[in-house]
Amino acid sequence: MTNASIRVVVFDAYGTLFDVYSIGALAEKLYPGQGAALSVLWRDKQIEYTRLISLSDPNPKGSRHYQAFWDITRASLRYSLARLGLAHTHANEDTLMAQYAELSTFPENLPVLHTLRQRGVATAILSNGSPEMLQSAVHSAGMRELLDAVLSVDSVRQFKTTPTSYQLVQDHFGFAPAEVLFVSSNAWDALGATWFGFTTLWVNRQGLPPEAIGPAPHHTGRDLNAVLQVLG
Ligand code: LAC
Repeated sequence: MTNASIRVVVFDAYGTLFDVYSIGALAEKLYPGQGAALSVLWRDKQIEYTRLISLSDPNPKGSRHYQAFWDITRASLRYSLARLGLAHTHANEDTLMAQYAELSTFPENLPVLHTLRQRGVATAILSNGSPEMLQSAVHSAGMRELLDAVLSVDSVRQFKTTPTSYQLVQDHFGFAPAEVLFVSSNAWDALGATWFGFTTLWVNRQGLPPEAIGPAPHHTGRDLNAVLQVLG
């Protein structure tokens, strides 16, 4: 598969376009000395719950145990506070959740999306996020005009890394999986997408080791500029 064959660039949202760990600063203000631990545990628990739900659902079309990602995010915040022995107040919970709806973006992201627009490359998000929280984050990051589609797994009521969730990209654009460049900063998401058949770019922002199972992503970079290098 040559890079000239890429027909659309599809981005993961949280951690890739939106900086989920930026809430660590707010968490640190609310819980001094525990902000980093809270934001990391919160994120891990949130993803764990998506897997628990998708793995446990007896119906391959989802739905029985499904909860919107927004609700999972709130539940995982409550769990993480309890796990760390931090006081839960509705005011703090609402403050942290509100921040989640307006995450910062990474500095290179808008210029990269603008460049893709100028080159006529189709772009989209495929995210576990529920539609409202994605729309809110896309709007506050100023990305609305720079994306051709914002696809949420909510329409199939299953989370990544189920094949049904990645299939949403094909259903929307009609391209073969290898013609999709799927970009994620989450190594597990890049692996799921590689297994699905997408051409993949892992944006390893944190300098983490690669996953120790499965095929390597087709490409690896340190920030979103790597998309432009992959497309050549
Ligand atoms: C997403 C999370 C998993 O946007 O990062 O789907």
